[in-house]
Amino acid sequence: MENFSGRKISTCVFISGYGSNLKSIIDSSRDYSFPITIKLVISNNKNAKGLACARKYNIPFKFYNYKNKIHFENKCLTELKKRRIKLLCMAGFMRILSKNFIKNFGYKILNIHPSLLPKFKGLNTHKRVLKQKEKYSGCTVHYVTPDVDTGEIISQKKILIDKNENEKSLQIKILKQEHKLYSKAIRSIFK
Ligand code: GRF
Repeated sequence: MENFSGRKISTCVFISGYGSNLKSIIDSSRDYSFPITIKLVISNNKNAKGLACARKYNIPFKFYNYKNKIHFENKCLTELKKRRIKLLCMAGFMRILSKNFIKNFGYKILNIHPSLLPKFKGLNTHKRVLKQKEKYSGCTVHYVTPDVDTGEIISQKKILIDKNENEKSLQIKILKQEHKLYSKAIRSIFK
């Protein structure tokens, strides 16, 4: 894989929703020294707000229907190949990539998860964290493997849970940290 000295790594971001992590990566990538450049955004949801963000920054974006997973993944692979994408960042992408897709893409795939993995894999993280009366939570950037939320951890940020914390306040607090952590993790793997 190429290092940023000379050329930035062509990257695609996968989203399903709001796209605030996408925006934070785009903002970082505008810095000369940031190792990657966002060349494509893919969504499985045509109403994803993050697509408007891609449009605003003039980044090509695609929506592919996920009704048929194999079809979705084949469409993605064709587009990724065409655009010579060498890194994928999952940012609020709410679908699981198949073993075949990961193997066929052949380059690094990153994901961000709103918990201190390996704790609280999967959905409804904040709700479960609060129910378990955890003292800390946080977020994790990790490599994507065929098993959900289990790939090697690249970077984590821990935060203290307040006494009167609720799901919403925890989500806001952690999302704010996610925006810093994703770029930090990307820098760390290409330094
Ligand atoms: C983030 O909390 C991410 O960790 C989770 O989904 C949320 C997406 O937020 N998987 P956004 O779409 O990047 O704003």
